[in-house]
Order: sequence, then structure tokens, then C-alpha cells
Amino acid sequence: MAFIVTSRYPVQYEESLNTVIIQEAIRYNKLLIVIKSSLNELLKALKGLVVMSESLEKMTLSLFSNIVPTMWASKAYPSLKPLAAWVTDLKARVAFLNTWVDNGIPPVFWISGFYFPQAFLTGTLQNFARKYVVSIDGISFSFKVLPTPPVKKPSDGCCIYGLFIEGARWNYTKAILDESNPKELYTDMPVVWLVPEENHKRPDGVYECPVYKTLTRAGTLSTTGHSTNYVLAIEVPSQKSEPHWIKRGVALICALDY
Ligand SMILES: *[C@@H]1O[C@H](CO)[C@@H](O)[C@H](O)[C@H]1NC(C)=O
Repeated sequence: MAFIVTSRYPVQYEESLNTVIIQEAIRYNKLLIVIKSSLNELLKALKGLVVMSESLEKMTLSLFSNIVPTMWASKAYPSLKPLAAWVTDLKARVAFLNTWVDNGIPPVFWISGFYFPQAFLTGTLQNFARKYVVSIDGISFSFKVLPTPPVKKPSDGCCIYGLFIEGARWNYTKAILDESNPKELYTDMPVVWLVPEENHKRPDGVYECPVYKTLTRAGTLSTTGHSTNYVLAIEVPSQKSEPHWIKRGVALICALDY
């Protein structure tokens, strides 16, 4: 897939997202290759054609227990999903990239589909910096929550969907963060438009809501200096003070554990 991607989306000064999709395709391909080759090995071992190694035996145990084999998880993005849901999620991620490859840059991005969402966010900022010939260091995102998904890609910034709100919900009538209904742990966050802005100042009446890849709040710093789990903070309109939501641990999550 990476070859097709590179020919259709060549590295371009004006479109940093071409680099993003190439990198994403390479990462997912590596994972798919590990899955395919280990399953082939396992099939051979089960047929008695090769010796069942310790790592294959561990993998078999995981497969029977609905656990993602370590061999796969170590090549994958963070995820807390059990194996069956993990596979469904992986297929959706690959489908997201394939749709992008076939149809061009989508009007709305499934943020949960990125192996490495930080690179996508940086690419979006970089597009803005190059278009308006400004330094990327002075740019950050402002945020607009959209009641309905846009049909066209905005001329600046990008729209994302797929986030879940943990511990609160979006009030569509008032367009603010609101209390969850009883027994409702996770709710859907509407599309958010990330709008690059120079010298962005945090507006009043927002909760700076952290976005995490998984429900594990803590992340470790990777070699690239990015957290393995924290993605960014989104300023969500709210009439309540920040401590109100902080006390409830309200966060946005890219992928749940089921
Ligand atoms: C939105 O908030 C208003 C005022 O607090 C409330 O009356 C209404 O039920 C909420 N609507 C939804 C859809 O949550």
C-alpha cells in the first residue's frame, strides 16, 4: 500500500498531510505484516510442519483468551480493547486510510483512526504556517464544536470526529458541556473543527479538556518527546468553572476499552 500512497500523495510543501498518510500507511503495514506472518507460522506449527516455539505458544494462548498477542501489541498503537474488538478497530483504521487514499483528503478525519495523531495535528499546523508564511511556533489551535459534520474540508485547519466524552455530555441545544445522564459513562462528542490561529489566547467560558488515546490516563514519554497517550487539550465551551469538570475527571477519549 505504501507505494501506491507515495505515488498518489507525493511529499509536497503545500500539503503536509501527504507525509502524514504515507507515514501512517508504513506503520499500519508493518503491523499487518507481523500479524500475517505470525498467523502463517502458527498455522504451520499447528499442522506440525514447524516446531511450536515459545512465542507461538504464547500467541495461541492469547488468541484463545481474547487477548491481543504481545507480539502484535508491541507493534501497535496503544489500545485497551480485547482481541475481537481490537481486530474490528484495526479493520476500521485500515478502512479509514484506504478511503483517504482512494477518495482524497477527507472533509472530516476520524481522529481515532490515526496510529500517531500528533503527527496529523502538527501537519495541520504546518499547512497553515506555510500557507500564510508564518512561524509554526507561534501557531496553536482554537476550537469550534460543530453541530453537524461539514460536507467540505474547511480551507484552514481540520475537522475531527470519533471522540468520546468521559463523565459528561454535550448539550446540543445550548452548545456547552453538560452533566451526563445517570449511568451514562461515555457519550459522543460532536465534530470539532481545529482552527489554527496565531498568538491564540484561551477564551473565557471553556474547559481545557485533555484528549487521551485510551482510558489509561497516564502515558509515558516516547523517544520523540510525545506522550504515548495524551494527544492535546481541546477548549470545550462550558458555563461551569474548570474545577467542576476537573473534579469529575472529565476527558475526551479516542478509543474505549470495548
Ligand atoms: C441543555 O441544557 C438545558 C439548560 O440547562 C436543559 O434544559 C436541556 O434539557 C439540555 N438539553 C439537552 C439536549 O441536553
